[in-house]
Amino acid sequence: ISLRPFNTFAISVNARYFVEIFSESDLELLLSSGFLNEKELLILGGGSNVLFTKDFPGVVVKMNIGGLKTEVRGDDLFVTAGAGVVWNDFVQFCVNSGLSGVENLSLIPGTVGASPIQNIGAYGVELKDVFHSCTAFEIKTGLKKIFDKEECEFGYRDSVFKSKFKGQYIISSVCFRLHTSAALNVTYGAIQTELSKREIAQPTIQDVSKVVSQIRVSKLPDPSTIGNAGSFFKNPVIPRQQFDELYKSFPDIVHYPAGEGQVKLAAGWLIESCGFKGKTEGQTGTWKNQALVLVNLGHATGQEVYSFSEQIINAVCQKFGLKLEREVNIL
Ligand code: FAD
Ligand code: EPU
Repeated sequence: ISLRPFNTFAISVNARYFVEIFSESDLELLLSSGFLNEKELLILGGGSNVLFTKDFPGVVVKMNIGGLKTEVRGDDLFVTAGAGVVWNDFVQFCVNSGLSGVENLSLIPGTVGASPIQNIGAYGVELKDVFHSCTAFEIKTGLKKIFDKEECEFGYRDSVFKSKFKGQYIISSVCFRLHTSAALNVTYGAIQTELSKREIAQPTIQDVSKVVSQIRVSKLPDPSTIGNAGSFFKNPVIPRQQFDELYKSFPDIVHYPAGEGQVKLAAGWLIESCGFKGKTEGQTGTWKNQALVLVNLGHATGQEVYSFSEQIINAVCQKFGLKLEREVNIL
């Protein structure tokens, strides 16, 4: 089966097997069937954070488990969503129900089930700020396990599902803790600028969601017309000492505090400084409004995009002595 419709980079590769899961009992059946034994496995949500560089020789398991369930406990409202629910549908459900917590994460592509994997984040909020727990199945044993927030070991674009439990669990649903009072986070510079442009002094949950969506549309390419997977690299987090040295040579380097003794750099700025913003090569390149986003201009192969990303890594390393890490999952 062609995976082109199942990855936002719109890379044309084929999978040997393709299975769709609509319920936890589908998943239990698949895991106990023995069908997966000895085969390579890829769990797929919306395919918005993957780059296929070759045909996939094993089984692609596409997560379509739906459903939203709400429960009130005190001042908090818990929403449990199936892994296959489209992330932004869940966000809009919350925004329209007057529940705050995820409005800053409006319009992020992909599914609820993938959201804990890299602890998705945008505009001053991360998934971990609203995450309560998730239900997952261990692939090897088929056993069901509930992970609480601590066990997920969330970090910047990181969780236990990318480190020690990589490739070991399939998330079937996620439970979120949202607020019934509008506890908004509008500290992010771009949100403040847009709100004041619109003369909104007392923003509602809907206002924040709208403003974030507009900022995103203006910066990021729409995968339905231009293949991409969002930020291709992570923003480097470096020790303050290393930063102080860099700052001497590059006083306009874009940076943010990142906890005790750490500084986060804007990879987009580093890449742009190397002359890569809007640069194209064959069927690939970086986006004209955001150098951190690599694009498929139509018929790029995954190999082509990957090689281009190597050029960027080399250029940034040469100029700044920093090794960019890919954020997108390479397959
Ligand atoms: P997929 O790409 O299908 O999978 C991603 C990874 O998760 C794979 O390793 C996969 O095996 C694993 N996985 C998926 N579902 C499950 C499951 N149920 N159980 C176990 N493992 C699973 N990300 C951000 O954090 N912030 C942003 O602002 C942001 N902006 C983006 C903008 C654009 C235009 C695009 C295209 C992407 C952006 N992303 C952003 C990246 C992407 O949206 C997120 O990583 C998202 O969570 C991926 O969801 P998905 O369902 O498409 O995952
Ligand atoms: N910048 C440049 N040139 C560029 C791009 C950015 O100079 O071409 C500088 C600008 O100074 C800009 C700053 O970098 O102000 C930050 O850019 P932006 O606000 O676009 O955010 P980002 O750091 O590039 C991160 C996330 C995004 C998330 C935004 C908003 C990562 C890897 N990326 O991007 O997430 O939407 O912040 O919070 O952390 C994704 O993960 O796919 C993604 C899009």
